[in-house]
Amino acid sequence: MGRLHQRHILVAISGGIAAYKGAELVRLLKKQGAAVRVVLSRGATEFITPLTMQALSGEPTHTELLDEEAEAGMGHIELARWADLMVIAPATADVIARLAQGRADDLLTTVALATPAPVAVAPAMNQQMWAHAATQDNVALLASRGIQIIGPDAGEQACGDIGPGRLLEPEAIVATLSERFENRSLEGRRVVITAGPTREAIDPVRYLSNHSSGKMGYALAQAFAAAGAQVELISGPVALEPPARVTVHQVTSAVEMCDAATKLAGDADFFIGAAAVADYRPAAKASEKMKKQEGRGLSLDLVENPDIIATVAQLPNRPRIVAGFAAETHDLLSHARAKRLRKGLDMIIANDVSAPETTFGSNQNAVHLITAENETHLALASKYVIAEHIVAALATQLSE
Ligand code: PMT
Repeated sequence: MGRLHQRHILVAISGGIAAYKGAELVRLLKKQGAAVRVVLSRGATEFITPLTMQALSGEPTHTELLDEEAEAGMGHIELARWADLMVIAPATADVIARLAQGRADDLLTTVALATPAPVAVAPAMNQQMWAHAATQDNVALLASRGIQIIGPDAGEQACGDIGPGRLLEPEAIVATLSERFENRSLEGRRVVITAGPTREAIDPVRYLSNHSSGKMGYALAQAFAAAGAQVELISGPVALEPPARVTVHQVTSAVEMCDAATKLAGDADFFIGAAAVADYRPAAKASEKMKKQEGRGLSLDLVENPDIIATVAQLPNRPRIVAGFAAETHDLLSHARAKRLRKGLDMIIANDVSAPETTFGSNQNAVHLITAENETHLALASKYVIAEHIVAALATQLSE
C-alpha cells in the first residue's frame, strides 16, 4: 500500500498553460489510492474544465468562493479542514505573490490560508518571471513560512524560452508529495498529548483561563498521526476540528485533564504536554452566579492545580518519553532548563510567548528543543512544520 493511500490531497490548479498537467497529477494521485479534491482558479478554467477534473477525481470540482451549492455541501472551510495536504500545481507568479501577501480574494488563496494542513507549491511560469526578484522574494517568503516549494523544472517552455520555470512533471510532484508521508517511523507507538487551555470555574457563568488556541497541540497530534502513531489527544476547550485518525478526549478543567492524562498515559511511548494548564483554580465554585457588589472589589481564593506533566513523569508505568513545553516571556532558556529538571522531563520545548508570531493563537512558532544531551533551535515556521521536527526529534530520542 502506497504512502498516499487514503490521504486527503487537495489539488489547486491556477491559470497557466501547465494547468493541463493538473489532470495527470490528479490521475496519478488517485492511482496511488489518495482521496483527491480539486480547486480550479478562474484562470485555470480557461485551460481545463471543471468537468474533466470531476471525472478524474470522482468529486465535484470547486471553483467559486461563495458558491451556494458548494457552501451547502463542502464549503471552503470544510475543504480546508478536509485536506491532509494541499498542493498548488501549477502555481503561477500571480498566485505565488497573492499567497505571499496572505490574500483571500478567491477560493484557492482562501483555502490556502484557512487550511491547517501543510501546503506545497509547484511553480510554473516564464523563465524571466521566475528569475524576477519579486518572484524570488515571494518564493523565499513562502518557504520561510513552511510552505514546500516543489520545482520548478528547467528546459524548453511553452512560450519558446529556455530556462527554469517549467512545471515539474506530475510523476516527480507525486513522488515528492509521497515523501511527506514517508515517515511511518512511529507505527505501533502510542502517544498521549494535552492541548489547549483549561477553564477553572468561578461560578456557573465565569471562569479563569488563558489564550491557548490548541493549535500547537493539535499540530503535534496531526504530525504524530502522519508518522503512524496511535494518538490520544486530551483537549481543553478550543475551536479546532479534531485531526483525522486522532482520538480526542474533551476536558474542561485542569483536574479533569489530570484525571484523563493519568488514565491514558500509563505505558504510552510518548506523553507531550502542550496544554496551557491553569496553575491555580478558585478554592470553591459558587453554585449560583455571583452578584456584583457595587463599589467593592473582589478577591478570589485560589488553590494550586495538580502539575499534570510532573504527575505523569512520576507514574510507576511512566511513558518512555515525557516532553513538555515551557511558555516564557523572559529568560527563556534558563527557565526552560530549570523546568525540565524540576518536572522530570526528557525534553522541554522552550517557547518564547512574548513575540506576536510565536505566541498563543499564532499560526507559526519558533522553539528550542532542550534535552539532557543537547539543545536545538527550530527557526520560525508553521506550527505543523515545527510539530514535524519535534516528532522527528522525539522519535530519535526514543530509538536511543
Ligand atoms: O495553543 P496555542 O495557541 O497554539 O499556543 C501554544 C502554547 C504557547 C500554549 C504551547 O506552545 C505551550 O507553550 N504550551 C505550554 C504552556 C504552559 O503552560 O507552559 P508552562 O511553562 O506554564 O508549563 C510547563 C509545562 O508543564 C507544559 O508542558 C504544561 O503543559 C505543563 N503543566 C503546567 C502546569 C500544570 N498544572 N500542569 C502541567 O502539566
